[in-house]
Amino acid sequence: MRVYTIASGKGGTGKTTIALNVATALATLGKKTLVMDCDVGMANLELLVDFGGHRRTLHDVLAGDAEIDDAIYKGPGGVDIVPGGLSIRGFQKSNPDLLRRVMDDLPGKYDFVIIDAASGLSKEVIVPLALADEVILVVNPEIPSIVDALKTKVIAETAGSRVESAILNRVVGEKTELTRDKISELLEVPILETIPEDANVRKAAAMKIPLVLWKPEAPAARSFKRIAAKLAGERLPEEDVAAARARARAERLISRLMRTVLGTGRKRQGDGRREVP
Ligand SMILES: Nc1ncnc2c1ncn2[C@@H]1O[C@H](COP(=O)(O)OP(=O)(O)O)[C@@H](O)[C@H]1O
Ligand SMILES: [Mg+2]
Repeated sequence: MRVYTIASGKGGTGKTTIALNVATALATLGKKTLVMDCDVGMANLELLVDFGGHRRTLHDVLAGDAEIDDAIYKGPGGVDIVPGGLSIRGFQKSNPDLLRRVMDDLPGKYDFVIIDAASGLSKEVIVPLALADEVILVVNPEIPSIVDALKTKVIAETAGSRVESAILNRVVGEKTELTRDKISELLEVPILETIPEDANVRKAAAMKIPLVLWKPEAPAARSFKRIAAKLAGERLPEEDVAAARARARAERLISRLMRTVLGTGRKRQGDGRREVP
C-alpha cells in the first residue's frame, strides 16, 4: 500500500480535484484505491462526486463514533471514498491522531491511498502529511502559491515525510506565469505534471462525476490520467496509445492528401520517397 498526501499551502490550488481524479484514474487502471477527505471541517470531496449519499464520515471515525469500514463508500469507476463530513460538531470532536490507527487498519486492502489534505498549519494538516509515504505539492503558477507550498514542504519534511514532486495546476500559458523550470527550481522538486486550466473541470464538478470518467479526453483529464500512470509506474493505458497512433496515422494521411491533391503542405526533404497519390 502506498499513501500519497496531496497538499498545498493555500486553499483553492486544486487538491481535491486532483485527489479525486487521480484516485479514480488509478481505480480504472485496476488498482485498489481509496481517496480520503482529510480536509476536516471544510469537507469538499463529497461536493465533487456522487456516491449515493452517506451516513458516516471521517469526522465520525476521528470522533470515535464509527469504524473506518462504515465510512468507506463505492464511488464511480470503482474507487473507494471516505467523505470528510460537513458537520461542525464532528469537526470539534475529531481527533486527528486517530488517523494513524485508521491507516494501520488499511494495508492489504488497497494498492493506493490518496489523501486530500487541508491547507494551513493546524494539526489536521500535519497528521496527514506525517502519515504519507510521499507528499505531492499542488501549486499554481504564481508566487504566493509557491511561497505557501514551500512552507508546507518544510512542515512535511520536519514531520519526517518525503516531498518528492509537485503538480503544477491551472496553467494558462500567460507570460506573467512562472515557468515549470523556475517552479521546480524554487521548490527543489521535479514537476510531476502540468495541468492546464480547463473549463471541463468545473463542469464535471457541477455534474458530480470525476472528469476522467465524464470526459476522459479533456485536456485536464489527460493530465490526471498521466499522473495516475506515473504513480502506478505504468505506461499510458492501451487505448490512449492506440488513439495516439490512430491520430498520427490520420494526420499523415491528411498531409499526404494535401500535398498530392492541392499541391500544398510541407514535403519532407531528402527522405527519398516518391509521392504516391
Ligand atoms: N485545471 C483546472 N482548470 C479549471 N479549474 C480548476 C482546475 N483545477 C481546479 N479548478 C477549480 O478550482 C477550484 C478549487 O479547486 P479545488 O480542487 O477545490 O482546490 P482545493 O481542494 O485545493 O481547495 C474549483 O472551483 C475547481 O473546479
Ligand atoms: Mg479541497
